Amino acid sequence: MKIGIDKIGFHTPHLYVDMNNLAVARNVEPEKFTIGIGQEKMAVPPITQDPVTLAANAALEILDEEDKEKIDFVIFGTESGIDHSKSAGVYVHHLLGLDSHARTIEVKQACYGATAAIQMAKGHIALNPKSRVLVLGSDIARYGLNTSGEATQGAGAVALVISADPKIMALEDQSAYLTADIMDFWRPIYSDKAFVDGKFSNEQYILFFSKVWEAYKEKTDHGLKDFEAICYHLPYTKMGMKALKTILDEGTEEDKERLSANYKISADYNRNVGNIYTGSLYLSLLSLLEQKEDLEAGSRIGLYSYGSGAVGEFFTGILQPHYREYLHVEQHTKLFSSRTEVTVPEYEEIFEKTLPIDGSSLELDIEKDPANICLAGIKDNMRQYVNKLR
Ligand code: COA
Repeated sequence: MKIGIDKIGFHTPHLYVDMNNLAVARNVEPEKFTIGIGQEKMAVPPITQDPVTLAANAALEILDEEDKEKIDFVIFGTESGIDHSKSAGVYVHHLLGLDSHARTIEVKQACYGATAAIQMAKGHIALNPKSRVLVLGSDIARYGLNTSGEATQGAGAVALVISADPKIMALEDQSAYLTADIMDFWRPIYSDKAFVDGKFSNEQYILFFSKVWEAYKEKTDHGLKDFEAICYHLPYTKMGMKALKTILDEGTEEDKERLSANYKISADYNRNVGNIYTGSLYLSLLSLLEQKEDLEAGSRIGLYSYGSGAVGEFFTGILQPHYREYLHVEQHTKLFSSRTEVTVPEYEEIFEKTLPIDGSSLELDIEKDPANICLAGIKDNMRQYVNKLR
């Protein structure tokens, strides 16, 4: 039985800051951000968007009535969750009007969360072939104003429906994974900003990649020639390229050219959104599928997932016949083109504006936010969500 990605949705806030302007404001050469780090625009979440609303908006665009009936497992991967106890998925389950006979959980392992969710979903579908699983990867990446990580912030969510006989990509069974207890990036529960040892994190990302790639090759007889593209978790777009470069010499000139060109396409959405942590790898996959019009069904795509702390995994999928018909290219083109640029001072003001943590109430103006699902405020320590379509 084939199991894999049946649908993919995506959402990012309607505001962004241009990296050239951020560079000027931070007194660094713009090329450092646009070439050295490889980011063009950084999504800026207004206070009316949080990981719950981003995920719900991403799922809203892809689910039909049949999905709502058949989804019996919601797995929410995030590392910027809003509650230490209640799963962010339960809010999304309600906001989308899913069938109540469902399991709903949140999973965490830094940016690896959504990959863990997909692998769990695969097992669930193997046991329950008629079910569908909604996997969400949603995050707001916050390092802080004037920090070295600032240029690698971002916000957004990817929603995936995992099912039998998937319309977009069948996931193959061979996979290689690795865990090691390291401190390259973490966020203690008392902090709303991440701590990161950037250089160490970059090294570990590449080290994990080489280990899981070698382990994958040992398990299979596959090499670079068998891949049309390899998509990476992208904290920033230069990162994946650095990892890809470490294996390119294993292939022919043709392999090098194909994989390098397709890498560039797969990094395009990420370049214009920034880091979305758990959803980042799947945003890269989406960028490849939606932007490379001649990508053929039957192609094998490699996927490298990395979650600091750290867990890494390399796995693969095969594109299904007519997969392009099931993408939402038009909606995503519109989502990108209708965004509004904010100035650096405006971004800083938005960044500093956070919800009260002293129990006081706050009502938010959701009319300015074009998203269908918004955070309308906080009352008695409970976030108030609104689905404008209901
Ligand atoms: N033109 C072109 N490139 C330039 C440049 C210029 N004018 N100025 C600098 N650069 C390049 C540097 O050479 C470097 O490239 P390299 O990585 O290939 O060597 C790159 O820009 C970044 O410069 P660097 O001095 O290393 O930046 P930094 O110390 O400010 O930190 C990060 C960059 C990425 C380490 C930092 O943003 C970070 O920690 N981000 C978070 C990392 C993360 O998300 N980890 C999570 C796990 S994956």
